[in-house]
Amino acid sequence: MAEFKVTPWDVEGMVDYDKLIKEFGTQPLTDELLEKTAVLTKSELPLYFRRRFFFSHRDYDLVLKDYEEGRGFFLYTGRGPSGPMHIGHIIPFFATKWLQEKFGVNLYVQITDDEKFLFKPNLSFEDTKRWAYENILDIIAVGFDPDKTFIFQDSEFTKIYEMAIPIAKKVTYSMAKAVFGFTEQSKIGMIFYPAIQAAPTFFEKRRCLIPAAIDQDPYWRIQRDFAESLGYYKTAALHSKFVPPLTGLEGKMSASKPETAVYLTDDPEEAGKKIWKFALTGGQPTVKEQREKGGNPEKCVVFKWLEIFFEPDDKALLERYHACKSGALLCGECKRYLIKKVQEFLKEHQKRREKAKDEIEKFKYTGELAREQWDKAIPEPLRR
Ligand code: TRP
Repeated sequence: MAEFKVTPWDVEGMVDYDKLIKEFGTQPLTDELLEKTAVLTKSELPLYFRRRFFFSHRDYDLVLKDYEEGRGFFLYTGRGPSGPMHIGHIIPFFATKWLQEKFGVNLYVQITDDEKFLFKPNLSFEDTKRWAYENILDIIAVGFDPDKTFIFQDSEFTKIYEMAIPIAKKVTYSMAKAVFGFTEQSKIGMIFYPAIQAAPTFFEKRRCLIPAAIDQDPYWRIQRDFAESLGYYKTAALHSKFVPPLTGLEGKMSASKPETAVYLTDDPEEAGKKIWKFALTGGQPTVKEQREKGGNPEKCVVFKWLEIFFEPDDKALLERYHACKSGALLCGECKRYLIKKVQEFLKEHQKRREKAKDEIEKFKYTGELAREQWDKAIPEPLRR
């Protein structure tokens, strides 16, 4: 019996994504919606959509309709700065960049140094602020449009409080408890926090689209309960799957288990060694058996990583699949190929990350600039 668990704090077991769609009450991302995306953007879809790494949504059909009919929409996503970012964290940001570029829309990125301080017993506020800086460099390195991207850190962009307050008046403790499982022991900051994460969905008086891993959906579910009563749109969302850890197909890559993840700041040499040593494959115990019976790409983390991100060429991926199945390809060769791809990616990313240190001002709005920006973005009724 396959047991699994998905909450904003925990992902465990072998996730059954079809079942999750039913449990969460979301919609599957259909061929039709993807086809419409390709038509509207006049583009070929990137692999995150083609290969259903993004697999589920809420109201994405309405987002496309809003775009088509000229009302437009905006993007919102975020990052909880609790440690270094790894490959699994950054992939949804690449998908978000594609959406921004193709639809030409604004993007708000929330960095929740408050959340991670409140929810992680072992992190100090100083720690989460320091990680916020480090993580922002990785996010900028993805290559967002500086004229259309606003990255803000909750502890600095305190004006967010003004938007959180009307939200906090709409959500009862019993609702929050039902959705997030709060208890008598939960700290009061944790109980207020969902209002802060919902606030950016109201930054513009247009529909908000949130590309993020599906574990964040409980926040959007609450937002959708009261959004219209405050005169805003229910937020839309595009949900991604999780990138499996190197060591197996269950759960997700975890920042607290270094052998399961490749961090964006890992030295490429070391990352290669880590993959070589820890990556689980679907191979047979001996070369002889592998040649006879073939491998199991379905059970292979190396193949999954290629499928999700590192092999954008569909034809090459399919050939690899068949070569594995037939026994022609051995796991060692396949691992070496992935290592090469990961190392190339890391080198490029780290170069862009260095450059990002000089670009922070263009993206990150704090202090006075923040207020100016906010005054433009914040809708009339709440500005007063
Ligand atoms: N709660 C998220 C995390 O722990 C951070 C976050 C805030 C976020 N706003 C978001 C993630 C919007 C996705 C979309 O990482």
